[in-house]
Amino acid sequence: MDLKGRNFLTLKDFTPDEIIYLIDLAEDFKKKKKKGIAVDTFRGKNVALIFEKTSTRTRCSFEVAAHDLGMGTTYLEPTGSQIGKKESIADTARVLGRMFDGIEYRGYGQEIVEELAQYAGVPVWNGLTNEYHPTQMLADMLTVREHFGDLTGRKLTYMGDARYNMGNSLMIVCAKLGIHFTACTAKEYFPSQDLVSECEEYAKASGASITLTEDVKEGTKNADVIYTDVWVSMGEPDEVWEQRIKALTPYKVTADVMKNAGDKAIFLHCLPAFHDLNTKIGKDIYDRFSIKDMEVTDEVFESEQSLVFEEAENRMHTIKAVMAATIGI
Ligand code: CP
Ligand code: NVA
Repeated sequence: MDLKGRNFLTLKDFTPDEIIYLIDLAEDFKKKKKKGIAVDTFRGKNVALIFEKTSTRTRCSFEVAAHDLGMGTTYLEPTGSQIGKKESIADTARVLGRMFDGIEYRGYGQEIVEELAQYAGVPVWNGLTNEYHPTQMLADMLTVREHFGDLTGRKLTYMGDARYNMGNSLMIVCAKLGIHFTACTAKEYFPSQDLVSECEEYAKASGASITLTEDVKEGTKNADVIYTDVWVSMGEPDEVWEQRIKALTPYKVTADVMKNAGDKAIFLHCLPAFHDLNTKIGKDIYDRFSIKDMEVTDEVFESEQSLVFEEAENRMHTIKAVMAATIGI
């Protein structure tokens, strides 16, 4: 498998075999790291990490993974560069492409990361856009496979805002890898019909299925994975909270949802999660709407079925695989 020189912008661009290859490579890196075997053969290489939105996991994963591989990193924070303000994406890409061996970009529209990739001349990795979060998908699939031992034929149900980066990306990866995907949410939060149609094509080849339902009992019954994400994403206006809380509260992941899925089900969340009042936004929402949790209850988040921290760790191993494979192993 040769992914050298490839961009990593959305999993739509990757075949099922290529996706599995990256998950296998991540698993191998993880094993080696646990045994203390260094893989630092990328010495002399450098990567740029552009973040126009904030991050804990993605930034740390890129930095730790790059350092493990022997590479240098430069972090460009949301306010600390000329990007988009004094310098166009195309110009930025041509500058950074001459200095770095790969560029990570987290920001707003997918067209920005696509333009960066068009001009950079080195691999560009999508660290989250409004539309997609492909590195998160590899971590999620590694976590599911580590737990169940397989992926094909599993059933994943996504609850909440299914028309944004997480819902879109999960539907794509499930459709590609033969996992039955259900978006269980209010109709106005279903993924777009265009993307559903595209994923139905992938599903034909893989044996997956795509279901969109507003019925919580039916949508979560016998699911292997119950997945959710924040109800309001980075960059969305504050005013949408009220409407989101109203529309999505019936799709909160509760102990009843997990019970309906069954004992074997696991809970995943890309994080950060609003499951208690220990955050500034959590407290603010409590003051405004008197709710103590949002997309998931604290009970589920802290339960044995929740693998969210294993999932977060896997961000690092999978991002390492993406950088190594595309820079060239
Ligand atoms: N899951 C995820 O992307 O987390 P960060 O926003 O902390 O990077
Ligand atoms: N949907 C969330 C994902 C964060 C990892 C956001 O875009 O803010």
